[in-house]
Amino acid sequence: MHENIRRLIRETRLDPANFILPLFIVEGARTIDRPIPSMPGVLQQGMDSLLRTCERALEAKLGGIILFGIPEEKDEHAHEAYSEHGVIQNAIREIKARMPELLVVTDVCLCEYTSHGHCGIVSEDERGEHEILNDVSVELLTRCAVSHAEAGADLIAPSDMMDGRVGAIREALDAGGFSSLPIMSYSAKYASAFYGPFRDAAGSAPQFGDRRSHQMDVANSDEAIRVVARDIDEGADIVMVKPAMPSLDIIRRVKETFNIPTAAYQVSGEYSMIKAAGMNGWIDEKRVMMESLTTIKRAGASIILTYFALAAAEALKSE
Ligand code: PBG
Repeated sequence: MHENIRRLIRETRLDPANFILPLFIVEGARTIDRPIPSMPGVLQQGMDSLLRTCERALEAKLGGIILFGIPEEKDEHAHEAYSEHGVIQNAIREIKARMPELLVVTDVCLCEYTSHGHCGIVSEDERGEHEILNDVSVELLTRCAVSHAEAGADLIAPSDMMDGRVGAIREALDAGGFSSLPIMSYSAKYASAFYGPFRDAAGSAPQFGDRRSHQMDVANSDEAIRVVARDIDEGADIVMVKPAMPSLDIIRRVKETFNIPTAAYQVSGEYSMIKAAGMNGWIDEKRVMMESLTTIKRAGASIILTYFALAAAEALKSE
């Protein structure tokens, strides 16, 4: 009957330190603040406006931020993904120079940098069939990871889902003098329709085909355990399940099976659904936001990547 008793016996508590805020940095004018129509409240940002958001993340005591880059130039080999002066590498240096205490996570993938929007290098056979070349792609992904490390990233998060990339990145980081830099692997990453708005935000929608050759079938659960086991074996320090709300069962299985720091990504589509319904007055946005985050943590994810990170930290403060 009493709130003080409910408070006393509450099993799951959220803390801003659980949240990682995804940010989209766009090359070009430093003052860009471009709304993303399918993600109300989320922006593509130039360097100056990104730095302001980073300051807010620091003040809110978030766990950290994760950076996604929107380069000016895309090509078949995703050059900008591993260039020393790519959009992400520059952003990491600027953020760390001003806010060394802010945890900066970087997403390692090629899809935002390839002209065709795929996560790897694509070959085409005589019948016009496309295939992502795993090993060549892994080679470029390791260069991308090392370039992030050299720029000063605190945590490397490969999201491409190529085979063998965690091990290859671990080896390359060690060889480059970054043996203490941890890896948070997008391990159980499903081929989900919930990523739709992100692909608008990052301009990374595949121009042909889809990602089902390397992202997981949503119908599978045992496979998630196998891929997580493989990533841990290859050197992942933190494993991620994505998307979050449709995968609460997977989060729980991973946490119970491996007892390793487990992250979940509440992805763009999850965010946009809550936002849209909230803006229509169909649900209480703030309560649904907090309920969704609490249940993701209750399922076993102590690290949550969420576009709600700042709003949720604000809500916790006023509680
Ligand atoms: C790949 C990547 C994606 C997301 C995070 N990293 C897109 C994809 O796999 O197609 C999706 C995140 C979201 O939907 O919020 N770089």
